[in-house]
Amino acid sequence: MKDGAPDKPWGGRFSEPTDTFVEAFTASVLFDRRLYAYDIEGSIAHARMLERAGILDRRERQAIVDGLNEVLGEIERGDFAWSLSLEDVHMNIEARLTARIGDPGKKLHTGRSRNDQVATDLRMYLRAEIDTVRGRIRALQTALLDVAEREAETVMPGFTHLQAAQPVTFGHHMMAWFEMLDRDHERLAECRHRVNVLPLGAAALAGTGYPIDRAYTAELLGFETIAANSLDAVGDRDFVIEFLADAALLMTHLSRIAEELILWSSAQFEFVELPDRYCTGSSIMPQKKNPDVPELVRGKSARVIGHLTTLLVLMKAQPLAYNKDNQEDKEPLFDTVDTVRDALRAFTGLIPQMRVEREELRRAARRGYTTATDLADYLVRRGVAFRDAHEAVGRAVRFGIEQGRDLSELSLEELRGFSAAIDEDVYQVLTLEGSVASRDHPGGTAPAQVRAAIRRARERLT
Ligand code: ARG
Repeated sequence: MKDGAPDKPWGGRFSEPTDTFVEAFTASVLFDRRLYAYDIEGSIAHARMLERAGILDRRERQAIVDGLNEVLGEIERGDFAWSLSLEDVHMNIEARLTARIGDPGKKLHTGRSRNDQVATDLRMYLRAEIDTVRGRIRALQTALLDVAEREAETVMPGFTHLQAAQPVTFGHHMMAWFEMLDRDHERLAECRHRVNVLPLGAAALAGTGYPIDRAYTAELLGFETIAANSLDAVGDRDFVIEFLADAALLMTHLSRIAEELILWSSAQFEFVELPDRYCTGSSIMPQKKNPDVPELVRGKSARVIGHLTTLLVLMKAQPLAYNKDNQEDKEPLFDTVDTVRDALRAFTGLIPQMRVEREELRRAARRGYTTATDLADYLVRRGVAFRDAHEAVGRAVRFGIEQGRDLSELSLEELRGFSAAIDEDVYQVLTLEGSVASRDHPGGTAPAQVRAAIRRARERLT
């Protein structure tokens, strides 16, 4: 008779009901109910395995599977009454199953524990979300390829120290973003492999005395392998941390992209014009059009980086095996998944719609004396030592700045005043097009190389 905590599945040992505040403080159902579909799928596989092992008979297994599918329907229709006093998603579903089908429902939990159950649910959830996130990374990469193709010849200043350095092509810059995301895509595949391990069978911590068949459950649920140690299986959250680390790095990449979009769309740069649909205005300054979407992507990277820290700190002092601390893994993980998905979606919508201001980009490249290195290289090809060439070109740039003229606007006489090695053909290297076209090797910024990189990338994506 459960006279202590009559409404609890574990009430037998207790002599007084749970304090109402404690009930709310310890419950996770308000957030872990997100796992319901995986919890039910895992329970169905567990029941099948129990039948095969001779622990449930056919009739019991059938009642459980049918009952769980009905519960799933209730939840999906919004007809399910989640109860805080039933603590979490697992006990809510199990209690509802038993209310519907009676005694067979009470046998479902044979040979398992919520400890291996929650670890299983979380791994199934994360496995599916990794697939979604990887799909969204690919969508953004495809958008970048389209912009890169369109702007393969568009010249812009490339920067180091945020100072104009050498001309590059806009397409080349898009392909740099593409590569950052490609590493994220690959990292998440490696992470998925370590997520895809079945903890079920570890039970509370030590395994179970029933003749279970873990390999069969793994097969039913699509897990690549079973966790090798029961203590580790229920205590481990490495797979969450690893995903959060990958997500933090992905958000760091998106934040860097955001930073460039914010700079580029400002009146000081005017490299791109963001679509009005992705911007907002100011309630006081009529001229303002604010890049809220990239700013929020940059801002939201902070919380994902924070969630990674949260999980590391959550785990660092936990003795084996399961501790209730682990219940705190879910909200940071769920929030990370939501944030990453939204950020990817926002950029996939915004980036192909920005207007690339080709004239302004070209003006900016010229303003920055970005072909100075090309002039130095020209002198080296004509037998001048690189240090001497550097010095001569430096003086030419200073002269150009004083005059307010680009190197390509200086006369041959003026240029020869800095080095007698200069001839008429110098103007070929002083043009922006000549400069970018000369970086003609794999990984270089020449339009031909950008097009080749896009082709290789498209192959990778199919
Ligand atoms: N709600 C719990 C969690 O999220 C499920 C496991 C509870 N296990 C236990 N022994 N109290 O971690």
